[in-house]
Amino acid sequence: MSDAFLRHIRATLDQIEASGLLKRERLIAGPQGGRIRVASDRGERTLLNLCANNYLGLANHPDVIAAAKGAMDAFGFGMASVRFICGAQTLHRELELAIAKHLSKDDAIVFAACFDANGGVFEPLMGEEDAIISDSLNHASIIDGVRLAKARRYRFANSDMNALEDCLKQAGADGARFKLIATDGVFSMDGYVAKLPEICALAERYGAMVLVDDCHATGHLGDKGRGTPALTGAGDKVDIVTGTFGKTLGGGMGGFVAAAQPIVDLLRQRARPYLFSNSLAPPVAAGALKALEIAARADDLRARLTDHTKRFRAGLEAAGLSTLPGVTPIIPVMLGEARLAQDLASALDERGVYVAGFFFPVVPKGKARIRTQMSAALTAEDVDIAVAAFRDAGKALGIL
Ligand SMILES: Cc1ncc(COP(=O)(O)O)c(C=O)c1O
Repeated sequence: MSDAFLRHIRATLDQIEASGLLKRERLIAGPQGGRIRVASDRGERTLLNLCANNYLGLANHPDVIAAAKGAMDAFGFGMASVRFICGAQTLHRELELAIAKHLSKDDAIVFAACFDANGGVFEPLMGEEDAIISDSLNHASIIDGVRLAKARRYRFANSDMNALEDCLKQAGADGARFKLIATDGVFSMDGYVAKLPEICALAERYGAMVLVDDCHATGHLGDKGRGTPALTGAGDKVDIVTGTFGKTLGGGMGGFVAAAQPIVDLLRQRARPYLFSNSLAPPVAAGALKALEIAARADDLRARLTDHTKRFRAGLEAAGLSTLPGVTPIIPVMLGEARLAQDLASALDERGVYVAGFFFPVVPKGKARIRTQMSAALTAEDVDIAVAAFRDAGKALGIL
């Protein structure tokens, strides 16, 4: 390898660091949970965890672990195959049918991750005569998936229904055969819920279909955790749902597309991340299946999550911190500059609270924040401790 190339790469890294944008990974020395053991220069420390997608606290649930262990005994560790060669176990099919039933869709297809589900869903369904209309704040995996499709692309400003309508009109004027609107159900950086009833009404008026990425909703939002279509009342007007098993549903890994039968059948034939990537490991599939079963009846955990969300949001606001409004367990504390977000994250770490600063390119420049997430794995006392830590750290840094 040439020195010149490595110097060029190092210069890019130096630039990232100089702009305060370098992301550093901290190592967790135990299971995911409301409190986590974090490795540090001072040895292991136990911190309150406010930044996992472990909304219902199922990532370390004993029944999920037992199901994964049981599947390892019954089905082995790995598949060493893609699905269509010799990688489809009864377990995988059970998981697909369970998530399809939960979301009231004909069928579902499981991928190794929702990044793959979103990466693979558009290209087989939408050809060059078609139009994909995408919210500007959609997750990177939707952006990449749309890029891979040959369809014409249209982008509307986040949740701006006038802009969406303009795109639908334009797509019609451009002669689109089929139109598909793609949106996150919950925008993960802001915690906003998509305006699904309005989106579906526009879709109906202009003859479009609707795809919702419900990664930050399936399992914990809406009746029985059926996600944003249930939460907003849009229900079965949403045609295609993509989601993950890597957050609320056990936090292992795996993604899915749930939709009408012909859509799922075609994805099984043509979706490239499905055709050309290894099958989900049996213990992961079994853990996800158990987590889904638990989540479907976990009204108690959903109620606890809602209580924590209200309590934490109220505490932060009473302390004088600037949050974005919302109803989901994602509560961003807005700080502006990347350096301030990093400094506050460090000050909170010193006070026993684990959070992550988010800054460009994950969020726009000047909109750096600490994105906090509530979890049913926390207690009400934990939430109060976290609020006190934010107040204290905010004062120490002159933010409050
Ligand atoms: C909205 C959204 N879509 C897709 C993904 C990707 O999910 P997975 O981790 O299963 O690849 C994420 C995860 O960060 C997400 O937040």
